[in-house]
Amino acid sequence: MAHHPAPAGPLGHIRTFHPRRGRMGPAQHAVLDRLAGELVHTIPDGPGPLLDTDALFGRRAPVVLEIGSGLGEATVAQAAADPERDYLAVEVHTPGIANLLNLVEEAGLSNVRAARADALELLRHRVTEEALAAIHAYFPDPWPKSRHHKRRLIQPAHTHLLASRIQPGGLLHAATDWPEYAAVMLDALNAEPLLVNTADGYAPRPAWRPQTRFERRGIAAGRPIADLIFQRRTP
Ligand SMILES: C[S@@+](CC[C@H](N)C(=O)[O-])C[C@H]1O[C@@H](n2cnc3c(N)ncnc32)[C@H](O)[C@@H]1O
Repeated sequence: MAHHPAPAGPLGHIRTFHPRRGRMGPAQHAVLDRLAGELVHTIPDGPGPLLDTDALFGRRAPVVLEIGSGLGEATVAQAAADPERDYLAVEVHTPGIANLLNLVEEAGLSNVRAARADALELLRHRVTEEALAAIHAYFPDPWPKSRHHKRRLIQPAHTHLLASRIQPGGLLHAATDWPEYAAVMLDALNAEPLLVNTADGYAPRPAWRPQTRFERRGIAAGRPIADLIFQRRTP
């Protein structure tokens, strides 16, 4: 993975992702050709029409949004175990989206869609307040260098935006293998008035959170895993 950040977005918005070139094999191209038209929505930065999740999923059901779904393992396993809710995986990395589509096809799921978008831009401009049942952010890029901390997804500048899009009672669930980032997340989420911690500090790992590629990497490197599960307050 490249360790330099992506260029700023419109209005100088700082990017939370690395610019990774998509090297894809024929199988990935094939699955994109087969399914992207139906299942993947590319959503540009900036203002635009609201995301119509009823039209996207072809039904009205609670929507769980996952930021940075990577290869899609968590999205697909959770969607398979939770057919009453719809899962929107937001990712900028096309090979990851191709992998997700393969998994969706294998599992025969109808409650998963992908958005190729900067999730922060999507939440800012295309999703109304209290629209989502939950937001998941598993192993977001830790941006370990101090000069890159401003690129972190979970940080004081973003917690209000994230929390405001969740329905009262809905969860904001994050996980990381980077202890210093975990502590920063905990402080930032604790400081957000719209959120209340469901645990005393870090949450026990819930059985329903599947292991992902980046989690396996962290474990292989001997790093501890922290879950953070906050609930949107009911007014
Ligand atoms: C470290 S990886 C973790 C992937 C996966 N969740 C896992 O646990 O294996 C972080 C992912 O988040 C994506 N990402 C980071 N910021 C994003 C944003 N603002 N919008 C959409 N995707 C983003 C990156 O492209 C990358 O694939």
